[in-house]
Amino acid sequence: MFKLGLIGYPIAHSLSPWIHNRLLEEQGLKGDYQLFEIEPDQFDIRIKKLKEYDLDGFNVTVPYKERILNYLDEIDEAAEFLGAVNTVKVENGKWVGYNTDGIGYLTSLINRYPNVLKNAGKVLILGSGGAARGIYYTLLQKGVNQVDISNRTVQKAEQIIKELDGGSFSTPLTIEEAEQNIGQYDVVVQTSSVGMSPEKDQSIIDFKHIKAGALFSDIVYRPMYTAFLEKADSLGANLHFGHEMLLHQAIYAFEIWTNSEPDASNIMTAFEGKLKGE
Ligand code: ATR
Repeated sequence: MFKLGLIGYPIAHSLSPWIHNRLLEEQGLKGDYQLFEIEPDQFDIRIKKLKEYDLDGFNVTVPYKERILNYLDEIDEAAEFLGAVNTVKVENGKWVGYNTDGIGYLTSLINRYPNVLKNAGKVLILGSGGAARGIYYTLLQKGVNQVDISNRTVQKAEQIIKELDGGSFSTPLTIEEAEQNIGQYDVVVQTSSVGMSPEKDQSIIDFKHIKAGALFSDIVYRPMYTAFLEKADSLGANLHFGHEMLLHQAIYAFEIWTNSEPDASNIMTAFEGKLKGE
């Protein structure tokens, strides 16, 4: 019986219970996945109570990915580098923190485009929040070393590069510079909240040309087909969608908790149906 869950605020509309309950069912495992919505001023007391609740593992979302660090007994290398945790496994009473954002993203990308790492050439990340950090870190770890970052506040892109770049060739860019140079990139990854419902007509950058065969990826999943991806599609890009990352990072967490290996394709179609139906 796996006792799993999610902490965050607000989380009433989270898709995680749907995903994890499906995964449990699909793997023939007993258990459930509950939401623990914790108001910020209640955090310390509720986390102490959670310790007594005997969970097997839980996810951590906004705004607690950093705050949870104080309550962990151990953290993995990615979480340590990123200073943020989105998955906790309870092992013999110890809370062990992981960060599956970057690896979940990359797994979903490779799943759809198996040769992507070999063909990645030049990569551009748009945005400089937690997701951008995770994806940047993972790409460098996997040997993709020409990864530039563009952000409205360019200093944040500079900061990520300074903290995480172990001697590669990354350049921080303004949004205007990204727009001017977009045609150089083989892979463009949109990691900001721009384009998310209800502002679904917005795109973080405006572009008219892309490199032939380029891959455009957006981590926003509501809507599934963002204005950014629509534009890229009209210019002939290969596309990668935000819900693919969401599902794969959830599966990665599920594997950490249960030591099982679900096949994403078994629930991808149902997940797409769920998203479209909302
Ligand atoms: P995460 O959930 O990944 O941690 P976040 O910390 O909320 O995300 O970061 C959101 C990102 O979206 C930031 O890069 C932010 O740019 P700034 O650093 O300049 O704030 C970017 N972002 C949000 N709204 C934006 C907008 N209207 N135009 C351009 N960038 C925007």
